[in-house]
Amino acid sequence: MKRYPPVISGFPHMIHGADYNPEQWLKWKDEIWKEDIRLAKKAGMNSLSVGIFAWSMLEPEEGEFHFEWLDEVMDLLAENGMKAVLATPSAARPNWLAEKYPEVLRMNDQRVRNLFGGRHNHCMSSPAYREKVTIINTKLAQRYKDHPALGMWHVSNEISGDCHCPLCQQNFRIWLKKKYGTLDALNEAWWTTFWSHRYTRWEHIESPTQNWMGERDVHGLKLDWLRFTTDQHIDFYRVETAPLKAITPHIPCTANLMADHEGIDYYAYAKELDVVSWDNYPCWRGDEKGDTPIAIHAAFCHDLMYGLKRRPWLLMESSPSCTNWQPVAKLHRPNNLLRQSVQAVAHGADSVQYFQFRKSRGSCEKFHGAVVSHEGTEKTRVYKDVCQVGDALAQMDDIVGTVKDGKVALVFDYQNNWALQDMRGALQERTNYRGEMEKHYASLWKKQLPVEIIDQSCDFSGYKVVIAPMNYMVRGDFAKRVEEYVAAGGTFVTTYLTGYVDDTDLCFRHGFPGPLRQVLGIWAEELDSLYPEDENAILWNGKSYRAHSLCELIHPESAQTLGTYGSDFYQGMAALTVNHFGKGKAYYIAARTDEDFLDDFYAFLLKETDAEGVLGDAAYQGVSVQKRTDGQHEYLFLMNFTAEEKQICIDGQTHTLESRGVKIVTR
Ligand code: GLA
Ligand code: ZN
Repeated sequence: MKRYPPVISGFPHMIHGADYNPEQWLKWKDEIWKEDIRLAKKAGMNSLSVGIFAWSMLEPEEGEFHFEWLDEVMDLLAENGMKAVLATPSAARPNWLAEKYPEVLRMNDQRVRNLFGGRHNHCMSSPAYREKVTIINTKLAQRYKDHPALGMWHVSNEISGDCHCPLCQQNFRIWLKKKYGTLDALNEAWWTTFWSHRYTRWEHIESPTQNWMGERDVHGLKLDWLRFTTDQHIDFYRVETAPLKAITPHIPCTANLMADHEGIDYYAYAKELDVVSWDNYPCWRGDEKGDTPIAIHAAFCHDLMYGLKRRPWLLMESSPSCTNWQPVAKLHRPNNLLRQSVQAVAHGADSVQYFQFRKSRGSCEKFHGAVVSHEGTEKTRVYKDVCQVGDALAQMDDIVGTVKDGKVALVFDYQNNWALQDMRGALQERTNYRGEMEKHYASLWKKQLPVEIIDQSCDFSGYKVVIAPMNYMVRGDFAKRVEEYVAAGGTFVTTYLTGYVDDTDLCFRHGFPGPLRQVLGIWAEELDSLYPEDENAILWNGKSYRAHSLCELIHPESAQTLGTYGSDFYQGMAALTVNHFGKGKAYYIAARTDEDFLDDFYAFLLKETDAEGVLGDAAYQGVSVQKRTDGQHEYLFLMNFTAEEKQICIDGQTHTLESRGVKIVTR
C-alpha cells in the first residue's frame, strides 16, 4: 500500500475550503456569519481558512488582544463539523507595529525603507518583528490548542522577496562567514579579482543591487544572496512555527507557495513544511481554441508542488470564478471549475480550496471571484459550480493520500535557474530555462505520464528516466549520483548548456559538460546562439527537425552519434548522442528544437525504457489522463481540455467526456 495519512489527522476526506475573512463583516456578523457557514456546508465545504491578515483585529494596539470574534468563528466551525485552517497573521501588520518599530519594514535594494502598507512587507531579521510574531502565534496556539475546529496551521501568506536593511546585511555576512570561513575562500569562490572586486573586510560585503548603483556583476555573490534569502525565509518560518510546534505538536503546518515564483529555493524551503500547499490561478480561455497550453502549465506547477516532497499536497487557493489581477478577468465556462479542481487532485492534491469565500466590499480584491458574491445568496451560477465540486470531492475519500508513483522525473532546479538568469552570453533573456523545461514537460504531458518534478539534490531511485534539460550548473554531488544512477541501469537525458559551472558559478575547467563529461561521453566545445530568424536542423531517424536558438558544437568521446546537424559550418557534426555507461544510457540533445522533435524523441525513449504513459501509444489532442495509486487500485483522471466532446478508450472501454468534462475511473 502506498498511501499517506490524511493531512488533518482523523479527517480522511478531501479538504474543501476557502480563505474566509469574517472579521471584515464584524458589524453584520449576526446576519452574515451563520449564513456563511450554512452556505459553505451546503456547498459541501468542510473547512475555512481564517485569520489570514487579521492582525489588526486580533491586536489592535500593542499588547491588547481580542480573540472573542475568532472564538466565535472557531466555535461556529466546530459546531458544524468543519475544520479551521488557522493562519498566523504575519503577512500584514497593524499600523502601530510599523510606527513603533520601523525596523520591521523592508528596505529595498536601493537601501530605501518601505512605508507602512500593502502586505508581505516585513524584514525577516528584525528582532522586533520576530518577537511580535512569536507573541501572537503563541497566544493563538495556546487559545486554540484543544479546539475541535483546529485542523492545520497556515503560516503567513505567500512568502517572497528580500530585505536589504542593515540587520539583513549583518546576517548575510554572518551567513557568508559560516559558509566560507575565510575571505580568501570567498574571494576565490566569487572570482572577485575580476574588476578589482576583492574583499578585504567582511564589512565591505553588501547585498547585490539590480542596477548600476551597487554590485551586480559578481555572480557568486548574487547566487549566495538568493540562497541566503531562502535561508532567511526558512529561519523566519522556524520562528513562526516554534510556538505552534511546541504547543500543538499534533497539528500540521504549511505555508502557501506560488509555483511560478522563482526567488526562493522551494526544495529547501519545503523540507520545513509538514505539507506543501500552493495557490493556483490559471488564465483559462475556455473557448473553442481550447485550454491545452494553460492546462499543461497548471499541470507542470502541480507536479512541481508534488515533487517538492514527493507526496500529496494541498491546493490552498484557486478562484471559483474570475481572478481580479489577471489581465482579463474571464469567468469560468460551464464545467471549468470542476475541471480545474479535478486537475489538481489528479496531480496529487488532497484538497480544493478557494480564494475567497465571500467577496469583500472594499479595497483591491472586491471583484475577485468568490464562493459568495455581493448578492449574498446561493442563487448564483458560481455557487452552484462550487456545489458541483463539493459533490465530486465527497466521492473521493479513497483517493486521499494516494501517490503518483511516477517513473519519469524532470529535474527543475531553482539554483540552476538563478545561474542561467545571470548568464551573459547565449541568448540573454531568451535563454529561458523555465520555458524550455515546460516544453519538455509538454511532450511528456501529451503522453499521459505521471511526471514527478525534482531538483538536483533529490533522490533518483524508482525512476526509469531522469530528464534534466539545460543543466548549466552542476552542484553538490549531482554528477556523482547521475553516474551511479546510469551505471545501475537508469536512463538520463540532458541537453545543450549542461555542465558549465559549479555551485558558485565558476566555469568547469577541462571542458564542458564538466563533471558530467564521462557519463555523457561527449565534449561540448562551443555554443552557437542564433537570431530568431536563423535555423539549423537535427537529422535523426530519417527525419529533419528544426533546430534553433542554441546549437552546441559537441564531439562524441565514448558516445554514439544518433543525429547530426543539417547545415552551416557544423553540418554533419553530432547533434544527438547516446552513451552506454554501465547498465544504463545517457542521452544528449545538443540543440534547441521544437516540440515535434521532443514528441518523437520521448515517444522513442519511453518505449525503449518501458516507461510509457497511462494510455500507451494512443494520442489524444487536448485530453489528459493522470493517475494516482495506493499500490492496489489505480485512480485514472480523465480530463478534456477542449470545448468539444471527446472519447477515450481505456482497457477496451470507451468513455465520453463532454465539453470541458472530467471523469474518474478506478481500476
Ligand atoms: C494570492 C493571495 C490571496 C489573494 C489572491 C488573489 O494568492 O494569497 O490573499 O490575494 O492571491 O488571487
Ligand atoms: Zn531586513
